[in-house]
Amino acid sequence: MKDNLILAVETSCDESAAAVIGDGPTIISNVVASQIDWHKKFGGVVPEIASRKHLELIDTVIEEAVEKANIDFQDLTAVAATRGPGLVGALLVGFASAKALALSLDLPFIGVNHVAGHIYANFLIDNDIPSPFICLTVSGGHTDLMYFTSPDEYTFLGRTRDDAAGEAFDKIARFLELGYPGGPEIENLAKQGDSKAVKLPRALVGTAGFDFSFSGLKTAVINYVHNARQRGQEINKANIAASFQAAVVDSLTNRLEKALKEYRPKAVLLSGGVAANQLLRKQVESIAEDHDANFYVPPLELCTDNAAMIGAAAYYRLQKGDTDELDLGVEATLSM
Ligand code: KG4
Ligand code: ZN
Repeated sequence: MKDNLILAVETSCDESAAAVIGDGPTIISNVVASQIDWHKKFGGVVPEIASRKHLELIDTVIEEAVEKANIDFQDLTAVAATRGPGLVGALLVGFASAKALALSLDLPFIGVNHVAGHIYANFLIDNDIPSPFICLTVSGGHTDLMYFTSPDEYTFLGRTRDDAAGEAFDKIARFLELGYPGGPEIENLAKQGDSKAVKLPRALVGTAGFDFSFSGLKTAVINYVHNARQRGQEINKANIAASFQAAVVDSLTNRLEKALKEYRPKAVLLSGGVAANQLLRKQVESIAEDHDANFYVPPLELCTDNAAMIGAAAYYRLQKGDTDELDLGVEATLSM
């Protein structure tokens, strides 16, 4: 049988990305063109700009991924692209390009769930993650705690009731005028701050479930700043950043810890853009260790949006013969 060589495309938000994934799954090439500079001055992603930039970049990014893999388009065995969730106009660009390639090369096509991609990024660092495992996915749009009895059988333990963790980072960074994306800005500034300087609430762990909530914390930061300014006091942004980051990480890890006690998984996986955060990585690693579970987290470049993770998720689908028809459309609110 021919070796697998999957071309994967990701355009759900503000990264135009393509990758070639081989058996394992392993990364053969991984190209990401970030659009951040075009969105920065607006303080967040502008959907219309994202679609247009994807259109400008997509062919080059795909060609570069194939070139860097040192192969020809004819060597590919399947094509995959992110189907959702994401910005509909942005998704359409990558999805249509990938479908056109699948059609012209007569290859199987796989429409991948973006969140599944984040989770499967972990399988690029280790192909044999033991089950059962618990995965905490934290991105700009998602905060999901899931229990996997095998790599493709899972139940949701908890999700956010309001903002996603990354969304909370972005909103607070915007409020503090720190720039976009907020997560890395807050993390950087927090290095010079004292995480105990500002008392901020941690949403209590519910008795029944494992749901998350960040709106109370967000309001507490905003109130703190308004009150200080009303009293004519200088605010220390580094202290606020450090205290906020610590509160987000505690709110994530206290639920994770409760789940580990209850489910006793063999492994803990962390995924999504917020998984790039060093404090979160450290705290989750130490909780996993305390509960005798292996800890997995992708390297930073595979935490934030990329196409390699989409190829990894597609690889497992392809193994099961689970491919899609070419009349499949994108879905902005696609769920797992
Ligand atoms: O997974 P991702 O690249 O895109 C989505 O699928 O949403 O995640 C982006 C999110 C943004 O909200 C960004 O602020 C956050 O991940 N993020 C971080 C860090 N790097 C990115 N949050 C905290 N600390 C970081 N170092
Ligand atoms: Zn993402």
